[in-house]
Amino acid sequence: MNYNIRGCSFGELVEIITENFREPDPELFALAKESAFAHYQGRVFIRGLVEVSNYCRNDCFYCGIRRSNLRLARYRLSPEVILACIENGYDLGLRSFVMQGGEDPGLSDELMTDIIREFRRRFVDASLTLSLGETSRDVYRAFFEAGADRYLLRHETAGKAHYDRLHPPEMDFDARVRCLYDLKEIGFQTGAGFMVGAPFQTVEDLARDLLFLKELEPHMVGLGPYLSQEDTPFAAYPSGGVRESLVMLALAKLMLPKAMFPATTALVTLMKGDRKPAFEVGANVVMPNISPLDTRGLYTLYDGKVSTGAESAEGLAFLTKQIEDAGYVAEFSRGDHVDYAN
Ligand code: 5AD
Repeated sequence: MNYNIRGCSFGELVEIITENFREPDPELFALAKESAFAHYQGRVFIRGLVEVSNYCRNDCFYCGIRRSNLRLARYRLSPEVILACIENGYDLGLRSFVMQGGEDPGLSDELMTDIIREFRRRFVDASLTLSLGETSRDVYRAFFEAGADRYLLRHETAGKAHYDRLHPPEMDFDARVRCLYDLKEIGFQTGAGFMVGAPFQTVEDLARDLLFLKELEPHMVGLGPYLSQEDTPFAAYPSGGVRESLVMLALAKLMLPKAMFPATTALVTLMKGDRKPAFEVGANVVMPNISPLDTRGLYTLYDGKVSTGAESAEGLAFLTKQIEDAGYVAEFSRGDHVDYAN
């Protein structure tokens, strides 16, 4: 097989994906791992994740926190609680944090900007990643100027027709792509990503995802299996697989050798808490939960979600040991992309 992935045509990518889904080629996995060691020397970066709100104005057909899910109890953390979670993580040694949430109109742009500014004032040597969905370029810029470093916004699928089957008519692939280019232009280390095994997905869609990554060149890629959630319209569709997710992770890593790849919670859920197989194909980020324990069970994007906590020294020690036992080095630094690290 020709694993010069960046040089592959659409047709060659379709063939490589198809072959490796049938039977993963150890050579592909070895090349992805090699690439991770070449750029990140076997380091795995730990980022403390705060799930700030599970309110969402969107209605994505696959997602458990979609607005039409009336069975879900909703919560929104106050600025004080968000910052207290981070303070706790900071005291435990974390220097990289993520604020993630649904597109919650109740968490106004002004309030969010204030939270970011306060984060920056209090945690000067820590990095901040946001994952709050689509908004205007001006708001993104305000977030950046207030002190956020990175932004995660998965493109979900680069097949336009496929995108339309996963989302209601008011959501638009082109709008999403525009957001991603805005984020990059503003100066964020930007993350894109997609689900593997989503309903109606074809190998052609996945080949498009790889070519989309090549074109956008994000600094981070979040990629995990689709997992069904019982209160969504897609409840009856089967979840994606570990094998397919690992193959796509390896291929995406070879497409963007310097990008950072989390061992996503969805993939870790499917692997029953194990992370090593993801590290072995190039994943180099873990995002343990540091949200308050009383709301943690409510961020239910899909069923069966594992929650590795790092709110306690014990939780963090477990994660560190898991990384070291797998043969990697746990990193507590800001965890910048190689092009941003100094
Ligand atoms: N299975 C897997 N991932 C999901 N996401 C949302 N719902 C699901 C699901 N059912 C992912 C999407 C989104 C991120 C917040 O979570 O990719 O971008």
